[in-house]
Amino acid sequence: MVTTPLLPSDYLDLVSPLRAGADLRGRIEAVRPETRDAATVVIRPGRGWRGHTAGQYVRIGVDVDGVRLWRAYSITSPTNRQDGCVTITVKAILDGKVSNHLVRRAKPGTLIQLDQATGDFVLPQTKPAKVLLLTAGSGITPVMGMLRDTAFDDAVMIHCAPQPRDVIFRSELHGLAAAGKLRLIEVHTATDGMLDISRLDELVPDWAERETWACGPTGLLDAADEHWSRHGVQERLHTERFRPGTVVAGDGGEVTFSATGKTVDADGATPLLDIGEEAGVLMPSGCRMGICFGCVTPLRAGSVRDLRTGEITAAEPGVLIQTCVSAAAGPCDIER
Ligand SMILES: Cc1cc2nc3c(=O)[nH]c(=O)nc-3n(C[C@H](O)[C@H](O)[C@H](O)COP(=O)(O)OP(=O)(O)OC[C@H]3O[C@@H](n4cnc5c(N)ncnc54)[C@H](O)[C@@H]3O)c2cc1C
Ligand code: FES
Repeated sequence: MVTTPLLPSDYLDLVSPLRAGADLRGRIEAVRPETRDAATVVIRPGRGWRGHTAGQYVRIGVDVDGVRLWRAYSITSPTNRQDGCVTITVKAILDGKVSNHLVRRAKPGTLIQLDQATGDFVLPQTKPAKVLLLTAGSGITPVMGMLRDTAFDDAVMIHCAPQPRDVIFRSELHGLAAAGKLRLIEVHTATDGMLDISRLDELVPDWAERETWACGPTGLLDAADEHWSRHGVQERLHTERFRPGTVVAGDGGEVTFSATGKTVDADGATPLLDIGEEAGVLMPSGCRMGICFGCVTPLRAGSVRDLRTGEITAAEPGVLIQTCVSAAAGPCDIER
């Protein structure tokens, strides 16, 4: 009664936000520039943090202009970091709300929401004898987490970035290469053009024998999926996507967010998550690509299309949809 209308925990949050038993949070300890548009954010997780496996990602909730936005970022620190902090490395993208905020405006001392680390883009228990790491742009981050955690016996990395100065962790990678721990092949796409996957035979002649971890833009990963499948070695390829793959679009429709009382027109290709956020509706989210289920919402009426498969889901009692990978398929009503 003494603390009404706040809860006692709200007061504890003011003095000890990272304590055991509180909702999991983290405090930004430092933001370190890596390239002209990428930075590493050092985060001290609260007491409930259960650690991570190299290659996994964490969902974070950040307040940007007074709105809590959730995004996923791969963990780049090794699992045995002595000070108990973890790092994520973020590349600012054009018009990106959270990435630009973290790279250019986030300040030490800021509290953020954290989820436990998750994801299956990890190494097997037994270290593979020969490894290929195929990355581009910010796709280097989960692989850097692996390289910092594991001393491979025979690892080759192909990394693509527009220019040498855009290669995140470049000096560390060259240090590993100089120490004989990694064979590093940089592809500078501004001068060399995009990596043609058929060049693998020339760049890494034994690529098909190597257990491969690949992370980068959709084009690179789609080409890799196709290449490994065509050569019958798809079980050796492990990929991590930061964005959903193919979009199967159709006709859109009028979308009603009944709890908020808003109705907007939507095309058949834009995720309902984006449509809702654009309309000012409070939409829960996480990875924004269909893997974390942080966006599930009841579909009250009408139909939606899964943008990955084209499959139509029609409203019926208890039906939930992932708004980040669903678009309107005719008029529909989303319970937000
Ligand atoms: C498992 C996982 C791990 C990830 N790890 C990292 C990481 O380690 N480092 C990192 O920088 N990012 C990572 N991401 C991507 C990250 O979650 C955000 O999507 C990214 O930072 C963009 O968010 P934003 O708020 O800045 O952009 P938004 O404001 O959401 O989007 C702005 C515009 O950019 C487009 N867009 C959104 N995401 C991307 C993208 N990834 N590439 C190109 N265009 C995009 C949108 O369609 C929109 O048009 C990861 C994503 C996943 C799912
Ligand atoms: S936000 Fe992760 S599944 Fe939709």
